[in-house]
Amino acid sequence: MDKLRVLITREQIAAKVAQIGERITADFAGESLVLIGVLKGATVFLADLARQIKLDTTFDFIAVSSYANARQHSGEVRLLKDVDRSVEGRNIILVEDILDTGLTLTYLMNVLQAHRPRSLKVAALLDKISRRTEPIHGDYVGFAIPDEFVVGYGLDFAERYRNLPDICVLESDSETR
Ligand code: PRP
Repeated sequence: MDKLRVLITREQIAAKVAQIGERITADFAGESLVLIGVLKGATVFLADLARQIKLDTTFDFIAVSSYANARQHSGEVRLLKDVDRSVEGRNIILVEDILDTGLTLTYLMNVLQAHRPRSLKVAALLDKISRRTEPIHGDYVGFAIPDEFVVGYGLDFAERYRNLPDICVLESDSETR
C-alpha cells in the first residue's frame, strides 16, 4: 500500500508561487509573456503561477515523451507536441513542475531556441539538484528537494496523485515501483 508523507504544504506552495509571480511581474514589467507548460505535470503550477503574474500573458503547452511508469529516465526525449502558435520574438517562460536529470530541459531549450524567441527563461517549482546530469538550471525555482519520489500538485506516480494539493513523498514497500 502506498504511504504519503507531506513534504511541502499547500500554504508553503502558495506563498512561493506568489513570490515567483511577483519576481516575474517585476522582471518583465511593461512586456508581454508566453507561459509554456510541459504536459502534464506543470499544469497545476502553471495555473497558479499565471494568476500571480500581473502582465499581458498567454499560455501554450508542449508535450514530450516521459518516464512512463518507471523511476529511471531512459535518456531519450521525444517531442510529442510543439507549441500551437508562433513564439518568434516573444518572451517565453518555460514552466516545469520539477527539474531532475535535466535531460528534458536540455532538449526543450533547444526546441524553443529554434523558435527564435526574444527571451527564454525557466520556472520550475521543484529542483532535485543532486540528480542532475546536464548543465542546466532554472531561472525561477521554488524549492530544492532531496532525491525522494514526490507526487502531488501536478506530479504523478503512474498518472495518479496529480490532484493532491500538497507535495508528498510516496513511500511504499512495493518492488513494482
Ligand atoms: C517530469 C517533469 C520534467 C521531467 C524532468 O515529467 O515534468 O518534464 O520529468 O526530468 P528530467 O530532468 O530527468 O528530464 P514526467 O516525465 O514525469 O511527465 P509528466 O509531466 O507528464 O508527469
